[in-house]
Amino acid sequence: MQTLRAFSDKAGATGLMLALFATLFAFQPIANAQEEEGAKGDDYMPEYSRRGADECMRCHGDDESAHLNAIFEGPHGVMADERTPFGGNQCEACHGPGGDHAGRVGFGEERPPMPAFGPNAPWSEERENQICQDCHTEQKHGFWEGGTHQRQDVGCADCHESHVRRDPMTVASTQSDGCLACHTQQRAQVHRAFAHPVRHGEMSCASCHEPHGAPNEAMLSSPTVNQNCYQCHAEKRGPFLWEHAPVPEDCTLCHRPHGSNNPAMLTRRSPLLCQQCHSRVGHAGIGRSTDDLPGRNPSAFLLGQSCTNCHSQVHGSNHPSGSLLSR
Ligand code: HEC
Ligand code: HEC
Ligand code: HEC
Ligand code: HEC
Ligand code: HEC
Ligand code: HEC
Ligand code: HEC
Ligand code: HEC
Ligand code: HEC
Ligand code: HEC
Repeated sequence: MQTLRAFSDKAGATGLMLALFATLFAFQPIANAQEEEGAKGDDYMPEYSRRGADECMRCHGDDESAHLNAIFEGPHGVMADERTPFGGNQCEACHGPGGDHAGRVGFGEERPPMPAFGPNAPWSEERENQICQDCHTEQKHGFWEGGTHQRQDVGCADCHESHVRRDPMTVASTQSDGCLACHTQQRAQVHRAFAHPVRHGEMSCASCHEPHGAPNEAMLSSPTVNQNCYQCHAEKRGPFLWEHAPVPEDCTLCHRPHGSNNPAMLTRRSPLLCQQCHSRVGHAGIGRSTDDLPGRNPSAFLLGQSCTNCHSQVHGSNHPSGSLLSR
């Protein structure tokens, strides 16, 4: 067993050496061949630049690049903190080694791109994510892997902005805009007449969802839909003497969490809401003729709150005689 392990280690080391030799000696031709295909891939590993950010600012310090400078005022720009990019490899901590890119380029030649985070960057998105995750281990060891966003190739930089003083994703009032850029269906919903106060920034998508992945339905931050709702609407949990069966089962049987055009974000208005499950037939006092239609003999069944005129405790009742959810 041990010999085997030692052997395979050696094989690994040899492989590494070979790869190193390949890059050292065969680098130019390979790079050129792959450049023609438009991608050098994750193996592209030039030298680091000699003077770090100073080197970059030589060319990226002009007015045209001024929008990049906000990074120096954000949490990534704290030079005194060696955990941050600017406490270490600076620009290249994120963009990868820039020796080729910052180097001399012959007349008529194209400047090689930085390895990561540029429109022409050769590294894959997965490799780019790793750069962020090497420092942000929580987003690595959490549920990121296998989460819906990871599986759909949504990268860290699709949500997070780096060249800003404050990343809009981490601010409740601006976060939803970032999410809704992709989630157009939810964009329509949160702008309906009755919705959680998301568009006003009092709540954010992350009040209910875990954008980095969660092992729950719809990446909710709680194991079930109802547990999620109870976090803020605890009074709906009960316990009730008289439960209404669908309530502990799933709030979304009656409510649309992102918004609806019906009051209280209901999926439909009463009586239709209730009549999905309850038949009119046999209900005390319900007319069975057209006399019951509104305008002719408007009844409490159709007016105002409709069924909830009488059955007002739809979420459950604690009254000794509340079995009909009416008190
Ligand atoms: C925390 C990681 C990080 C650091 C540090 C960083 N960048 Fe960036 N940079 C990015 C990401 C991510 C993008 C892609 C666009 C975006 O999301 O903002 C980017 C985009 C760019 C772009 C191309 C887009 C544009 O708007 O022109 C340039 C040029 C650039 N960075 C230069 C730099 C320079 C120069 C430095 C050092 C002063 C630096 N970056 C430091 C993450 C970083
Ligand atoms: C000698 C000038 C020069 C230096 C030094 C330089 N850059 Fe650039 N950089 C450019 C130019 C020019 C472009 C635009 C290239 C283009 O549009 O093809 C660019 C583009 C970029 C981009 C976008 C790349 C892409 O995929 O299109 C990034 C990111 C970047 N630079 C980062 C850096 C970083 C980080 C450094 C320091 C290690 C650096 N640059 C040093 C001239 C320079
Ligand atoms: C060299 C390490 C390093 C790299 C690389 C790095 N970060 Fe950071 N990041 C930090 C540190 C350190 C902080 C500040 C943490 C703190 O203050 O607790 C930070 C803060 C953040 C924050 C919080 C911002 C805020 O306003 O509160 C976000 C979001 C973030 N990073 C995303 C990213 C993304 C996305 C990438 C990749 C493009 C990245 N980081 C690359 C070290 C890094
Ligand atoms: C779908 C959008 C999205 C993606 C993709 C994403 N994030 Fe985030 N991230 C957020 C949001 C939203 C927050 C703010 C969470 C909050 O308000 O509770 C956040 C917060 C953070 C923070 C601040 C600390 C914290 O946990 O609150 C860091 C660091 C971070 N993300 C890193 C990453 C890294 C690394 C990746 C890639 C592996 C990544 N994020 C991918 C949306 C995203
Ligand atoms: C770059 C585009 C993009 C951004 C930005 C984005 N998402 Fe997504 N999201 C997707 C894709 C693609 C899917 C998978 C297909 C779908 O369900 O629409 C998805 C799926 C989801 C799902 C369903 C998960 C499941 O398992 O059913 C939730 C919830 C979600 N995103 C929340 C968010 C939140 C919250 C934000 C902002 C913090 C956000 N998304 C930002 C692209 C994005
Ligand atoms: C009050 C809690 C809550 C808030 C706030 C919230 N969601 Fe949801 N979201 C849910 C629940 C619960 C589900 C799953 C059940 C459903 O949609 O019927 C869900 C499902 C989703 C899905 C998957 C939809 C599908 O059809 O599979 C996406 C995508 C999504 N939400 C995106 C967002 C975005 C983007 C935001 C911010 C604008 C947001 N959500 C805010 C509770 C919430
Ligand atoms: C993070 C806290 C939070 C979570 C989680 C949450 N809500 Fe809310 N909910 C609120 C707030 C805040 C309001 C607005 C209250 C107001 O306007 O007075 C609200 C309002 C409502 C309303 C409308 C009340 C009205 O009078 O129109 C309904 C219905 C509702 N929530 C259902 C749900 C459901 C269903 C869930 C689970 C999918 C849920 N909520 C999860 C905070 C939350
Ligand atoms: C059988 C349908 C039904 C189910 C299931 C249901 N609700 Fe409701 N909900 C209603 C109706 C009808 C109203 C409006 C009548 C009213 O004001 O009580 C309402 C109103 C609300 C309101 C706003 C008024 C108030 O009472 O605070 C909140 C918040 C709410 N529901 C939360 C929830 C939560 C959380 C769940 C899941 C635990 C849930 N609902 C399950 C039918 C339902
Ligand atoms: C998703 C299906 C569903 C919806 C929607 C629904 N209910 Fe119910 N309701 C039930 C079930 C199941 C019971 C329990 C029936 C039983 O125990 O025989 C029940 C019980 C009741 C009871 C108690 C009477 C009894 O027989 O125990 C009343 C009253 C009631 N519902 C009224 C309403 C009203 C009013 C609405 C609309 C606001 C409504 N329900 C919406 C499924 C639903
Ligand atoms: C005018 C008041 C009133 C209105 C409006 C009303 N109900 Fe009732 N409901 C009652 C009374 C009273 C009973 C008890 C009848 C009995 O004991 O025979 C009852 C009984 C019920 C029961 C239990 C039936 C059973 O057979 O045990 C259900 C379910 C119910 N109603 C659903 C509804 C639905 C759904 C609506 C709206 C379409 C509605 N109710 C509208 C007064 C009302």
